[in-house]
Amino acid sequence: MPKNSERSVASTQDLGPSAQDPAPRTRHPEPSSQELAPRTLFVTGGAGFIGSNFIRHVLSAHDGVRAVNYDKLTYAGNLENLTDIKESERYRFVRGDISDAKAVAQVFAEEKPWGVVNFAAESHVDRSILDATPFVDTNVKGTQVLLEAIRQQPVERFVQISTDEVYGALGKDGLFSESSPIQPNSPYAACKAAADLIALAYAKTYGLPIVVTRSSNNYGPYQFPEKLIPLTVRNALAGKELPIYGEGKQVRDWLYVEDNCRAIDAVLHKGRIGEVYNIGGDCEKQNIDLVKLICEILRNHPETQELRPRIQFIKDPRGAAHDFRYALDCRKIREELGWGPRMSFETGLASTVEWYRANRPWTERVITGEYRDYYRKIYGACAP
Ligand code: NAD
Ligand code: TYD
Repeated sequence: MPKNSERSVASTQDLGPSAQDPAPRTRHPEPSSQELAPRTLFVTGGAGFIGSNFIRHVLSAHDGVRAVNYDKLTYAGNLENLTDIKESERYRFVRGDISDAKAVAQVFAEEKPWGVVNFAAESHVDRSILDATPFVDTNVKGTQVLLEAIRQQPVERFVQISTDEVYGALGKDGLFSESSPIQPNSPYAACKAAADLIALAYAKTYGLPIVVTRSSNNYGPYQFPEKLIPLTVRNALAGKELPIYGEGKQVRDWLYVEDNCRAIDAVLHKGRIGEVYNIGGDCEKQNIDLVKLICEILRNHPETQELRPRIQFIKDPRGAAHDFRYALDCRKIREELGWGPRMSFETGLASTVEWYRANRPWTERVITGEYRDYYRKIYGACAP
């Protein structure tokens, strides 16, 4: 697989191919730096988990790219996620809301972006069940504001970051393909589905250069500790219970965030306009097994071997909206763009747990009083 376009990513993670990685399936090389001669990317939600990893990836992989990070800095947005690149001449941060059409138009006029990658969203299912309003405002209205912005001021590419959750739930068998029905169950998933479909409608109706990605559950550094993996590590380190919803039988497909960033990069530059690309990790785990694996990793570390984390099964706060299983058929992105996940789950999970262990002050800093209120609403008695 020709990899001359990609340089090593500045991170502590093992991003190289592992023994368990699939054989390279590239038919088309990933985009080279020359193809990307100075281009400004308008990246929304770049202070969040995947967005910050993506900005780091794209600046490291392509010399000719500038990133303008447009982020509202909600509870989930944290500029500390980008400390290492904040002085780069190829990076600019603008605080703003994607549903503020005037503010978006102003930055568009200043920057004349080559492309847009829309990560900005309210992203947590449990919060959408408590209050769906910000999900409609940002995920639906905000996306439509961005789509109107590219109608007014054309760009070469617009990537709408969507999710496997738009397909709804699977039973024990089967996979979702890009043509599976859209059947979201939670308010979060419904708002993401609305945005995804509006984006595809704008592509068709107005001939705009829009591509949609639907990825499975990401994991890796800088994820806000309301999501299962960072929350479990934080609670274990703090000697608190590890909450499992229901019996923990639900299944998620885990994708290392850097693998997703490479996939989004490939879709941005080589994806076919008006198309959807599934991006999965080919790594299904039951929640209970994943939490036990995290406990085992901590037990095997000299600094945390004394910990005795306790799992606590709690009443499922998602009720009927808790999707049993997600799993993706990713043949399209493999065959068209030559993308496949490189990180093995074993290495990826171990390095992720280690990142949260070593960066415990980061976790504690990003948690605000608002987090504690939220935690009490969801977890009740076992709140920290
Ligand atoms: P995140 O919650 O960590 O980050 C979201 C970012 O968006 C934050 O920086 C926040 O400040 C910003 N934001 C929120 N509302 C905004 C607004 N109105 N205007 C501007 N910025 C705003 O989310 P994430 O996990 O990094 O997810 C990024 C995207 O990927 C989302 O669109 C999400 O739906 C999608 N996705 C996530 C996963 C996952 O496993 N995390 C899986 C599939 C798809
Ligand atoms: P989460 O990380 O919130 O991602 P998503 O809802 O997008 O899949 O949750 C992953 C799974 O873990 C999901 O089935 C809900 C479950 N879960 C728990 O059992 N306990 C928890 O404390 C959290 C946050 C999630």
